[in-house]
Amino acid sequence: MDGKEKIKIGVLVSGGGSNLQAIIDAVQVGALDVEIACVGADNPGAGGLARAEKAGIPTFVTDYSTLFASRKDGAPLPDNFSLDDVAAKQSLLKDAHPDTLKAFLEKRALAEADLLAKLVPYNIDLLVLAGFMRVFTPYFIDGLNADSDIPRIMNIHPALLPAFPGTDGYGDTFRYGCKVGGCTVHFVDYGEDSGPIIGQHSFPILPEDDLDAVKKKGLAEEWRLFPECIQLYAEGRLTVVEREGTRVVEIIKGS
Ligand code: GRF
Repeated sequence: MDGKEKIKIGVLVSGGGSNLQAIIDAVQVGALDVEIACVGADNPGAGGLARAEKAGIPTFVTDYSTLFASRKDGAPLPDNFSLDDVAAKQSLLKDAHPDTLKAFLEKRALAEADLLAKLVPYNIDLLVLAGFMRVFTPYFIDGLNADSDIPRIMNIHPALLPAFPGTDGYGDTFRYGCKVGGCTVHFVDYGEDSGPIIGQHSFPILPEDDLDAVKKKGLAEEWRLFPECIQLYAEGRLTVVEREGTRVVEIIKGS
């Protein structure tokens, strides 16, 4: 891939970071037209941080738990945060009591403002969520997508969306008795795991498979799927169009 222009990506993790590792490996073998500019985590114990450091990638932490607690202690909200605006756009909490929604959005605004500020110096083209276990409110999404025709946040989810959104995709797939499992890479929109789908890989679930086997098969597919989707973005081949009222991704044919 030498000689081609590279896009700059940031990666966010919460845990072990095996997806981050797959992306680092793909970059190192020259399979991605990408520079990983930074890796961030929502907690200082995220194993992915050590993987990044080993690869010489700058890291940072936005400590969500500490920031959430500071909001309870009266930490001020970001100047550019409008509760009415964010509440009107969001579709994470439906039918929540206004006080519940207010607390939910305000504490996230505090963490999201910290994240946005820490990302600014890296000037990234794309933010990749690789096992980042936090939802984003419109405050963060609009902050990152500003001045871009194409969404700038990409997430990997451990199920074949739109089935089984939420935090336990493989568990939900397995417990439902599905005979096929899979993973999905999608752009992030204002809902939970609801944004336009970029790519999906599937795998058979056999009678002898337990949940561990399903997770193992799923992760192996994630490690292939995520770099593929990031490379499509790097090549400028993803576009979002409206199809019968739904925003969907179209992949432009490669040359
Ligand atoms: C993956 O299964 C991802 O889809 C899910 O969390 C897991 C993260 O794994 N959201 P890792 O931290 O990349 O190893």
